[in-house]
Amino acid sequence: MASGTITQTILDDYQREFAGSHGLHERARQVISGGITHDGRFLRPFPPYIAKAKGAHKWDVDGHQLIDYAVGHGSLIFGHDDPEISAALKGQVSEGTHFGAGHLGEIAWAEQIVKLVPSAEQVRFTASGTESTLLAMRVARGYTEKTTILKFEGHFHGWQDYALKGEKPPFEKTSVPGIPRETLSTVAVVPSNDLAMLEERLVQGDVAGVILEPSGASWATIPLKEDFLGRVRLLTQKYNAVLIFDEVITGFRWAPGGAQQRFDITPDLTTMAKIVAGGMPGGAIAGSADLMEMIAFKDEAGWNANRRVPQAGTYNANPLAAAAGLTCLRKCEDPAVQQYCDDLATQLRTGLNEVFVELDVPAVAWGESSIFHIAVGKKAANRIAGDLHTPEGLEAEYLKGSGGNALAQTFEIGMLVEGVHLFHSGGFFSTAHTLEDIKKTVEATRTVGNRMRNEGLFG
Ligand SMILES: Cc1ncc(COP(=O)(O)O)c(C=O)c1O
Repeated sequence: MASGTITQTILDDYQREFAGSHGLHERARQVISGGITHDGRFLRPFPPYIAKAKGAHKWDVDGHQLIDYAVGHGSLIFGHDDPEISAALKGQVSEGTHFGAGHLGEIAWAEQIVKLVPSAEQVRFTASGTESTLLAMRVARGYTEKTTILKFEGHFHGWQDYALKGEKPPFEKTSVPGIPRETLSTVAVVPSNDLAMLEERLVQGDVAGVILEPSGASWATIPLKEDFLGRVRLLTQKYNAVLIFDEVITGFRWAPGGAQQRFDITPDLTTMAKIVAGGMPGGAIAGSADLMEMIAFKDEAGWNANRRVPQAGTYNANPLAAAAGLTCLRKCEDPAVQQYCDDLATQLRTGLNEVFVELDVPAVAWGESSIFHIAVGKKAANRIAGDLHTPEGLEAEYLKGSGGNALAQTFEIGMLVEGVHLFHSGGFFSTAHTLEDIKKTVEATRTVGNRMRNEGLFG
């Protein structure tokens, strides 16, 4: 069908059916900058507003039931309102929500992290993933007494000042509004998967720590080559740089012990958030005892004033986060949890690629573990009607940035109209998702792909 014969576009439908969200967004814009509370929730022409959530579904203010692939930005691996986590939270509310002191819950929570995460001998809690990466970088710098943090293009480590250089395309851009040039000059950025450039930079001797997402940038949008993590481990040892795995997403999802367990590579430090706190605001760093002791007070002369790495935080190991986190991590111990989610994701990635090939539209789905990504606009060279780990022939900047392009945004609102809420054109699985959700998502994709083609959006 030619675009001229379309009477109702995806945009028309979205604006009509999500009118309640539109109204709330206009109201939000009066008092909340840009109307959103996280850059990642930006969606044209306006984002959906949610009234309640349960299991793998949520309901927007206009009453639509949506399959939820955001599941708390990946933090709710057991879905919304998991009975055990909710009971732990409710029980803790009546016991107290902030003691301004140590408590049993934080010890049990740390013990559970040490039990599950291979690199974890000791733990410190934070209030978010951003705080976790900030603290890990500080520990690496304090321990090595070196300055530079080396990171990889596209890898996301939260929004603190040392984390944003080279995060968004174009990767070679070295300035970030609001962050002093002097601060950015202490961060080196190397292309993903480029071991030669990594060694070239490490050999200069000033690198305190190397931080990366062990899934590849933004939960596997730019997948890593198979031997990459092992080679980075060897190089960081050779040049005395602290290796930090940012497992804010992969932790307890890629395996009970995170990506480090799945790939059998042990970093020096691990940063966590999301699942670690059972979906509550909270995070942690963990690592070898000698590194983690950098934060501890000691009786040694001069240590506390001159060598110790400081950390504070009103909400660190908050009793609510501890209660949810401990309950969640006890449940994560069973590898059947991650296996179930992985299997569903494999089936969805396969189903999506089958639709894209069948419709012959320029789109691809890929991913690993229990996540999936969709890029709309270009065809991968290795396009297949099956599961894909690494789309070939598409630049890293396209893979990382495709979720923000106009086609992807139309695809996302089209999926909302069909009852599916994607997250950055992709999503996360929880144990609450079912095969029925996958079937509906694949059908929704067929409908939206067809509509976009009929609207002439693929050119
Ligand atoms: C890999 C990674 N690191 C760090 C962060 C920042 O975590 P938070 O949003 O809790 O500050 C995120 C958030 O999505 C993340 O995906």
